[in-house]
Amino acid sequence: MNATLDQMTAALNRCDENSPYSLDNEDAYQAWRARKLESRRNLDPARVFRLDCDERMPVSMLEPLREQISAFNFVIFESSSSLGKQQFLTLNRQFGLQALDSNLGADNDNVTSLQVVADADSRAQYIPYTSRAMNWHTDGYYNPDGRRICAFALYCVNQAGRGGGNYLFDHEMLYLLIREQAPDLLEALMGDDMMRVPANVEDNRVIRAEESGPVFSVQPMDCRLNMRYTSRPHNIVWKSDHCSERALNLVREILMDGEAMIEVRLQDRQGIVCNNILHGRQAFHDLAEQPARLVFRARYHDAIDLDKGFGLASTGRN
Ligand SMILES: [Fe+2]
Repeated sequence: MNATLDQMTAALNRCDENSPYSLDNEDAYQAWRARKLESRRNLDPARVFRLDCDERMPVSMLEPLREQISAFNFVIFESSSSLGKQQFLTLNRQFGLQALDSNLGADNDNVTSLQVVADADSRAQYIPYTSRAMNWHTDGYYNPDGRRICAFALYCVNQAGRGGGNYLFDHEMLYLLIREQAPDLLEALMGDDMMRVPANVEDNRVIRAEESGPVFSVQPMDCRLNMRYTSRPHNIVWKSDHCSERALNLVREILMDGEAMIEVRLQDRQGIVCNNILHGRQAFHDLAEQPARLVFRARYHDAIDLDKGFGLASTGRN
């Protein structure tokens, strides 16, 4: 997190040599593309990985987890009993996730309890704390560079009586589909001035400074693809030249088309760990006779690294 600019530049140059995300490197891209599509054909994204009686992911699941994550960038898990927040964080560490982000609205332990809050609660102005639908986004797209969200985990304590499902879209697949159709537009999406998120100001106090940056970027420390995006028009100012507009329209078309979209409705005691893929949430309705919807969320500055999480020598990639 505290690397100097020179270290970051050197690391990015190293990524470039073999990166499938470098537009100059068609061979690496084609090899990566073939692997990605092949693994997705052979695996079921809805597979549920069950925790053992200690609420740990069994070591025997390491290889299947590795394959699942490289195919879809997320996995679904199910605990034996209802997890508390500390157990949830312990499980996430098994995925190599340690650098917790602290966001507005999070609890003291930096886990966010996503639930409908009372109108008087200051969080009620933010959609995650209501029962409304949430459109396509990646988490923390407004975070500055040093606090980039590379992964997040959700854990469903109680699902809503009706609705509350999630839809997911692996951002690597979005990259792949754009590169198939219009590779020239990726340059625009990787531009440092592609999006600008105005400051969040409340009562003349700046809660979050203005932030700008690319949609797609390669993270220098692990050479992974990161994506920042929101479909909410009033929280963001997009670059407005012809190429940027075409690029943005293509992103919207692909998401609307939904070719690689996966729908998941977490049941009680189920969760998702992911590399900050694109996602949204259906509106929901709580029923009086059952507990209100409650989902824990933890956001991380590091990406999933199973070798680190399972105590093996880290390769930096899964
Ligand atoms: Fe989200």
